[in-house]
Amino acid sequence: MIPKNNSGKKFGNSRLSSITRTMKERRNSRALIKIDPSLTHRLFHPRVPVIVCSKFGKDIAAMPANSCSAISDSPPMIALALGKRIRTNRVMRKSLVFSINWISFEPECSRDIILRLAAPFKTSTGAADKLKQNGVPYFLVRGVPVLGQACAFTLCKVNRILSTGDHDLFIASVLHAKALPRDFALDGYWRFQEYKPALYTGSIRRDPLITIQDPNGF
Ligand SMILES: Cc1cc2nc3c(=O)[nH]c(=O)nc-3n(C[C@H](O)[C@H](O)[C@H](O)COP(=O)(O)O)c2cc1C
Repeated sequence: MIPKNNSGKKFGNSRLSSITRTMKERRNSRALIKIDPSLTHRLFHPRVPVIVCSKFGKDIAAMPANSCSAISDSPPMIALALGKRIRTNRVMRKSLVFSINWISFEPECSRDIILRLAAPFKTSTGAADKLKQNGVPYFLVRGVPVLGQACAFTLCKVNRILSTGDHDLFIASVLHAKALPRDFALDGYWRFQEYKPALYTGSIRRDPLITIQDPNGF
């Protein structure tokens, strides 16, 4: 029997084969259940978090971010989504420059940085420097904080800020970048010799960071 559309007309051959294909695909697909679309961000886990740092006057902001992605190779550009209410958003809107830092799962003190900086900045202490407040060593490159533990970093300049729901999307150009010579700078690919990426599995887990099992398998 040849299927018909709502107006009673017969479907053409190509439409028919696409319907047959869809029916077959439906039979073969695993049974998936509906989930709340607001959980979409969790479907991206695990992800490699970076540490974003920015400085405006005495105010130094730093936090882990999962939402950071390269959005253009030439010119090199990145996008970063920051919650509207967080302090780092406020500092970056004023400074319009920031660093992105890639840090390794090991040593443990490096991994701890991700979890310590995930806590909101404590204003009650009167301090202005979140890195100092958390005992995280850093130095300044062109006036922007860069982590002493970074296996790579880039300096970025904000070009545009778009409001996207409960976050703001910062679109930025990459001005300057450095990485470990043995691990990345050799040919522009991570070799995972010193750098073992920390993978964030989600906030509900007791130990939300893992890493790759066999770095030589890459
Ligand atoms: C691994 C990880 C990734 C995160 N990624 C983001 C992100 O991309 N954007 C965001 O707004 N918050 C993100 N957060 C939450 C912020 O780091 C958190 O709100 C932090 O307290 C903000 O710091 P601040 O108050 O000093 O600005 C992430 C947290 C973790 C643990």
